[in-house]
Amino acid sequence: MHDERWEKLTKAADALRSLLDVPPAVAITLGSGLSDGFGVPAGGALIPCGEIPGFPVPTVAGHSGEFWSGRIGRVPVLLQRGRVHFYEGRTLDEVTFAARLFAVLGAKILIVTNASGAIRENLRAGDLVLITDHINMLGVNPLHGPNLDRLGPRFPDMSAAYTPRLRALAREAANAEKIELKEGVYVATLGPSYETPAEIRAFRAMGADLVGMSTVPEVIAAAHAGMEVLGISLATNLAAGVDPNAALSHDEVIETTKRKGAEMRRLILAILARL
Ligand code: HPA
Repeated sequence: MHDERWEKLTKAADALRSLLDVPPAVAITLGSGLSDGFGVPAGGALIPCGEIPGFPVPTVAGHSGEFWSGRIGRVPVLLQRGRVHFYEGRTLDEVTFAARLFAVLGAKILIVTNASGAIRENLRAGDLVLITDHINMLGVNPLHGPNLDRLGPRFPDMSAAYTPRLRALAREAANAEKIELKEGVYVATLGPSYETPAEIRAFRAMGADLVGMSTVPEVIAAAHAGMEVLGISLATNLAAGVDPNAALSHDEVIETTKRKGAEMRRLILAILARL
């Protein structure tokens, strides 16, 4: 079936393919604030998002977004530095464009990182948390609308969206690196306002441990396209009302990503070394 979304994806994939250092086996999406901590690996190719036709270029201040293509150790990686969010007013087709592009390029694994607020009481700001599952509170699903049959089925199973195999690898990597890695369920909200304390209590009752404004659309799209997904969240702050005396600020989120970005990097490198 003719589908403009598919045409746009293949066009972007053709352009990006010609700029790659190596065809990717693993794609990594770095969350806001986490790109700086990860840095740009030596060698390889840097590709500005703007060079890819149809690609939704991030608008966040000072960051127009780029890809890095190359090998990290033995693994052919495509690194996405800077992503677009639903709260920016982007469509979910735009938000999931990169994840689908990775699938079209043949990447089998997507590693996503993000910053989140900690809902569960025994989580602290600065904790690295392995995402075990998610709750979609966006009120929409990125697969809504005609199915992209070339990517995956109409009714994709999400029971193991965060692949158990990769979670086991991540735990192994964390142990070996002596990095404390907690586990939790991530709930996605639209944002951009932070949640109210009542919303956080409701999310806690639903079984959520972390809250954030990204990741879920990308993960649904990647799982739909048959990719294995690994999600790692950095709890940058306690969610609203968890500490009744604290107010939430974007500054705290930035400060924590600066403080812990290098540890996230070390963990991801150790995971890649085990793939
Ligand atoms: N809520 C939503 N998104 C977030 C938070 C939060 O507390 N912290 C970082 N991203």
